[in-house]
Amino acid sequence: MAKNPFMKSEAPPPPTRAYTITVVGLPETIRVDPSQLPDEQGQEGSLLSILMAAGVDIEHVCGGVCACSTCHVYVTAGGATANEATDDELDMLDTAPALKPTSRLACQCVPSGTSDVTVEIPSWNRNAVKEGH
Ligand code: FES
Repeated sequence: MAKNPFMKSEAPPPPTRAYTITVVGLPETIRVDPSQLPDEQGQEGSLLSILMAAGVDIEHVCGGVCACSTCHVYVTAGGATANEATDDELDMLDTAPALKPTSRLACQCVPSGTSDVTVEIPSWNRNAVKEGH
C-alpha cells in the first residue's frame, strides 16, 4: 500500500467491527469484515480501499496517498464513527469543489465499524461508478 512520505500523521486504526456501507444510487450494500480488509489503495480499511474492492470505481488520481482531492465523497451517515480528518486531509479537501460538512477523502476516511455508513459520490464522479444492472 503506497504511503505519502510528506504526511506527518499516523495511519488511522482499521475497523474493529463488521458494518455495511451504502453507496447512494447503488442497489446493494457492501459488507465490511474487519478480518478480511482488502489491500487496495488508500489507508487500510479506508472507504476507497473497500469500495474499490467491491467494484465501485472512485477516482483516485494520486493513488490514495492524500495528495489530490479526486476521491472526495460525502459521508452522509455514520461519519462520526470514522477517524477525524487530519490537517493533511483538510488541506487537500480545500482544493475540492462543492465541499460540505460531510466531505471526506475516501482514501483517508476509515470508519471504525461501530455503525453503518452511507456514502454519496459527487455527481461529477458518478459516471465512474459501476451501476448494478
Ligand atoms: S486518492 Fe488522492 S487524495 Fe485520495
